[in-house]
Amino acid sequence: MARVVNIAIVGCGYWGVNYLRVLSELPDAKVCLACDLSEDRLRTVRERFPLISTTKQLSEVLTSRWVDAVVVATPAGSHHEVTAQCLAAGKHVLVEKPITTSVADALTLIQQAQQTQLVLMVGHTFLYNSGILKIKQLMGEADFGQLYYLHATRTNMGPVRSDVNCLWDLGTHDVAIFNFLLDSVPTSVSAVASPVLGKEKQDVGFVTLRYAHNVIANIHASWVDPNKVREVVVVGSRRRIVFDDLNNVERVRIYEKGLSATMEADTFGEFRLIVHDGDIISPHVPPSEPLKNLAAHFLDCVANGKRPLSDGRNGLDVVRVMSAIDRSLARQGAPVEVEGSS
Ligand SMILES: NC(=O)c1ccc[n+]([C@@H]2O[C@H](COP(=O)([O-])OP(=O)(O)OC[C@H]3O[C@@H](n4cnc5c(N)ncnc54)[C@H](O)[C@@H]3O)[C@@H](O)[C@H]2O)c1
Repeated sequence: MARVVNIAIVGCGYWGVNYLRVLSELPDAKVCLACDLSEDRLRTVRERFPLISTTKQLSEVLTSRWVDAVVVATPAGSHHEVTAQCLAAGKHVLVEKPITTSVADALTLIQQAQQTQLVLMVGHTFLYNSGILKIKQLMGEADFGQLYYLHATRTNMGPVRSDVNCLWDLGTHDVAIFNFLLDSVPTSVSAVASPVLGKEKQDVGFVTLRYAHNVIANIHASWVDPNKVREVVVVGSRRRIVFDDLNNVERVRIYEKGLSATMEADTFGEFRLIVHDGDIISPHVPPSEPLKNLAAHFLDCVANGKRPLSDGRNGLDVVRVMSAIDRSLARQGAPVEVEGSS
């Protein structure tokens, strides 16, 4: 019989409550404690999950001998401090993305988890999304051809955050997706962003990432756009693949129609673009909830001593890119090297 992992959730806002739901549905987990600074949030938790104890004190989570593991779903700025305390108390941790808001803080958490031999996992949900896994599989097939470029659009009207800008909030998902699809970290980035709502943090941002082998990628993130879009496009020489996370019927579409540069005898020295007509295929993508897959993976890692797919180092790679993006923003979009990429 699989071991049941006793879990506490710290931070029971919009996302933390989703963790309460999925973990309550998984047979290998028992959520025993929910912690939040807000009494209102804890009241909501008690109404929905009457069997779960609640507390405003993190110390109660840290000293509880029942708690094996903690899910940290507090705002990004507190991830380092809360996670460090949980690891120091001997708890395995699943911390929401981004792991921290600085490279140095991420490195200390990784070191702490290594020394204590505890699982440290980051909530990069899209690595557990069956649509993204399908794209990775398709990109590895010969039919895909040579990878040209990728782009992602993650826009909506709100929710506006005040602790981080839209790139740290939304763009981190796409950096994690690109790194995962390409099995690498970009060598350099250029980014521009604007605080259009007149607050300190930027509300819209555009990022260009340069990966090895001349592969470029682009991210458009905004919480002030008219339309909700959650799209990743991967363009290869033989196939173009579109991931639309809002399309429940055709989450992934493959376009076999494409352009190729061919040399024509009558236009010596020049290239002409020829359009190839082809099918548009909508492959079967097994339906599953990414957050539930992610939570189940965490339980498996804790119970069986496995290393998570989105471990601390994977989270650190995203933060290294985000910190290069910050440096490029400070230099009005100048290309900036990603620390440790060479
Ligand atoms: N992976 C995803 O797809 C995804 C989606 C949404 C949010 N998130 C992440 O989840 C985290 C939370 O986001 P949210 O939208 O739920 O925010 P939220 O503001 O709705 O909730 C945060 C909660 O944490 C509580 N809190 C703050 N500091 C605390 C502390 N020190 N101890 C205990 N409780 C504390 C707040 O009172 C609040 O209830 C963020 O890191 C965000 O990036 C991830």
